[in-house]
Amino acid sequence: MSGIRLAFLIVLCLSSLSIIAIGLNLLLPRPVIKASNRRTSEFESITDEEKNISTLIDLLRNTLVNLNESVTTKAVHAKKALKPTARPDQCVSCFPKSSYIFPNYNVCSTEHPRSQDVKLLLLIFTTHEKTRNRKALRKTWTSIAENNTARVRYVFLLGKHDDHNWNKKALAEAKHYGDIVISDFREVYKNLTLKTISGFQWAAGFCPNAKYIMKTDDDMWVNTPKLLKNLDRWHISKEVVGFCLPVDDVHREKDSRWYVSPLEYPHSKYPGFCSGTGYVTTMSVMQAIVGVSPHIPYFFLEDIYVAICIKKLGYTLRRLRGFYNDKVPFDPCMYQQMITSHNVTMWELEEAWSPKCSGTDIAKETYHLKHAISHKKMNIKFPLFKITSRTSNLSP
Ligand SMILES: *[C@@H]1O[C@H](CO)[C@@H](O)[C@H](O)[C@H]1NC(C)=O
Ligand SMILES: *[C@@H]1O[C@H](CO)[C@@H](O)[C@H](O)[C@H]1NC(C)=O
Ligand SMILES: *[C@@H]1O[C@H](CO)[C@@H](O)[C@H](O)[C@H]1NC(C)=O
Ligand SMILES: *[C@@H]1O[C@H](CO)[C@@H](O)[C@H](O)[C@H]1NC(C)=O
Ligand SMILES: *[C@@H]1O[C@H](CO)[C@@H](O)[C@H](O)[C@H]1NC(C)=O
Repeated sequence: MSGIRLAFLIVLCLSSLSIIAIGLNLLLPRPVIKASNRRTSEFESITDEEKNISTLIDLLRNTLVNLNESVTTKAVHAKKALKPTARPDQCVSCFPKSSYIFPNYNVCSTEHPRSQDVKLLLLIFTTHEKTRNRKALRKTWTSIAENNTARVRYVFLLGKHDDHNWNKKALAEAKHYGDIVISDFREVYKNLTLKTISGFQWAAGFCPNAKYIMKTDDDMWVNTPKLLKNLDRWHISKEVVGFCLPVDDVHREKDSRWYVSPLEYPHSKYPGFCSGTGYVTTMSVMQAIVGVSPHIPYFFLEDIYVAICIKKLGYTLRRLRGFYNDKVPFDPCMYQQMITSHNVTMWELEEAWSPKCSGTDIAKETYHLKHAISHKKMNIKFPLFKITSRTSNLSP
């Protein structure tokens, strides 16, 4: 009983005290509140907001959700951008630009008193280490260029070696012979198309007076005298000629040297190609390729890349007799009847170049040629083309 009474009394006292306190508070001056009307109105506005605080919370939540959404979508886009996409068929100026370390712009000059008009420019793919091949070519089928003063001109195309010593040697050789163009890209197999387009751009810029262009390699027999004789007869117009195939399958076997992933090339067929061992076209077609190439995404098989450009331009590829992408069994007389043969030895080059067969019976040579063509060793049956056509000394 007394406990309850006590509690009651305490509550009563506390309430009286608080009433007194409120009273005192009301009686006492309120300097802070009075001092500023602005503060009073602020105080009032907060109470206003308190009324629709839930509205505010909703507003805040929505803002947060929107922000999170925009951040999340941005992150998804970024992720998508990082994920590799398949090679598109075209693009806007996406092909890497070329620049030259040693442009050697005098190759097609006609200022020399002995100079003749330029009929044919040979672009010969080589690598730094192949000094012996270049030496053999200078003695044989490029010698027709007479140190780049005759109707045939030639250049060896090089990139940049990883080993600086090779770059120094290449530069010295380029200065000595005046027949090497060095471009500013890394010399690797996957960069061959950079070599083609930089070579084409170089030709368009420094050899526009050449009527025809041939792309070939440093391990080839190229019958330059016969080529020169036949160029006009072929009536090349809006086309590339050589050892050409109209279509080709894409190699999807991972162990193939020409393996191409579906990302690198999403279609199952190539629009054909003229084997990079030796194809010929006109300066105007080459200029058109240079013109279209900025908008054709990079593709490392250079002969396929050129064919893609040709297709884009609405031009064609033409197979010509006498161009072989493989090695034709060696016979010096027969070699004078054809235009190209692949992977010939230095000795064979010299034999083929020597004029031993100039007086021989043409019928006999033709017999040899026919015989060779029907020969199984020639590897010119269709399925073999695919395997042999892109063989090149320019291995990685
Ligand atoms: C509070 O709600 C009223 C009526 O719903 C509105 O007019 C007023 O703008 C709201 N105030 C705030 C601060 O959102
Ligand atoms: C943002 O969105 C992600 C995905 O929708 C979700 O997992 C995360 O909890 C959200 N974060 C906030 C703060 O709402
Ligand atoms: C080419 O130049 C070399 C020296 O570099 C010279 O020996 C040779 O006679 C020249 N050939 C021609 C055809 O001018
Ligand atoms: C091709 O050359 C470019 C330019 O030098 C270089 O950045 C790139 O790595 C090279 N490609 C390969 C596969 O090495
Ligand atoms: C080229 O010929 C040599 C033999 O002279 C041979 O060992 C080599 O495999 C051949 N290379 C190609 C790419 O056919």
